[in-house]
Amino acid sequence: MGPRILVTGALGQIGTELVVALEAKHGRGSVIPTDVREAPNCRILDVMDAEGIISMVNDESVTDIYHLAALLSATGERNPELCWKINVEGLENIIAAAKANNCRIFAPSSIAVFGPDCPSIAPQVTPLNPSTVYGKTKVVCEQLVMTSEVDIRGLRYPGLISYKAPAGGGTTDYAVEIFHAALSDGHYTCFVREDTRLPMMYMDDAIRATLELMEVPTEKLGGARGGYNIAGCSFTVGELVASIERHLPEFTCTYEPDVRQKYADSWPNDIDDDVARMEWGWNPEFDLDGMVDAMFAGLQA
Ligand code: NAD
Ligand code: SER
Repeated sequence: MGPRILVTGALGQIGTELVVALEAKHGRGSVIPTDVREAPNCRILDVMDAEGIISMVNDESVTDIYHLAALLSATGERNPELCWKINVEGLENIIAAAKANNCRIFAPSSIAVFGPDCPSIAPQVTPLNPSTVYGKTKVVCEQLVMTSEVDIRGLRYPGLISYKAPAGGGTTDYAVEIFHAALSDGHYTCFVREDTRLPMMYMDDAIRATLELMEVPTEKLGGARGGYNIAGCSFTVGELVASIERHLPEFTCTYEPDVRQKYADSWPNDIDDDVARMEWGWNPEFDLDGMVDAMFAGLQA
């Protein structure tokens, strides 16, 4: 018998691509995509519905849960109580169902666990004092991962860049929106300053990291398993604009920073991912220009 894989939040930016990758790896019938929103080939499951999760895990003999349902930073700061409920209580509900059925869990964390006191290149181990509610929920989720008796693994994803689904209400969404605006209008008004530098990653690298982490034997994973730092490419908006201009020389970008500038400024510029590299061989493939080329190829296809 192969794995039976439940994916929560499957209609989001990551789920849209992770479901396809899991189906390619384990077979189409092995994956059960779920979300609180309706869509073809996706079952309704609200991660606040503890009983509903237990029923689905039991009825479908689920062995692995990829738990992607969450509110991201920008949406979360507008709805802090809901953000806490969905992100923290949602994970608690998933852990309870997994415990009863001996399931493994993938539960992503984020660069938002770091706060203004973090060094500009974030080490794996450093005080975690985020200033956003979203970041606080991710710190608590990492602690839940480490204290539960379930095999749970997590990655501190950087801002993810992809073209198959829209970005889901985060601070790093500008690095996705800019491509759509460049192609449709030749212009983008960016909500953070030109010199804002954040850790980012192309979705193909993020999906590969996820699949690779879940392949690692438990005994090889150390104290970072609640949220491994993984780096992709780190760049300022100005550097992103310059890379886009290689494809569209007439492209222009102007800057009107809003409240999301504050969240971006509280996060590190780059990520030290030595622990993930040493423990399970993490290695990113996409640099800034490689990511930009892949985005244009995907959007223009
Ligand atoms: P997203 O916002 O694109 O997707 C989240 C999905 O969860 C949506 O489809 C939404 O409908 C669903 N959802 C919301 N409330 C729900 C509920 N109560 N029950 C079930 N489903 C619900 O987010 P994403 O970018 O795919 O992120 C997935 C995970 O990765 C999150 O934990 C997020 O914090 C983390 N992450 C994402 C990024 C990124 O840049 N995308 C970076 C760091 C970490
Ligand atoms: N990309 C995410 C956000 O901006 C980081 O977790 O919220």
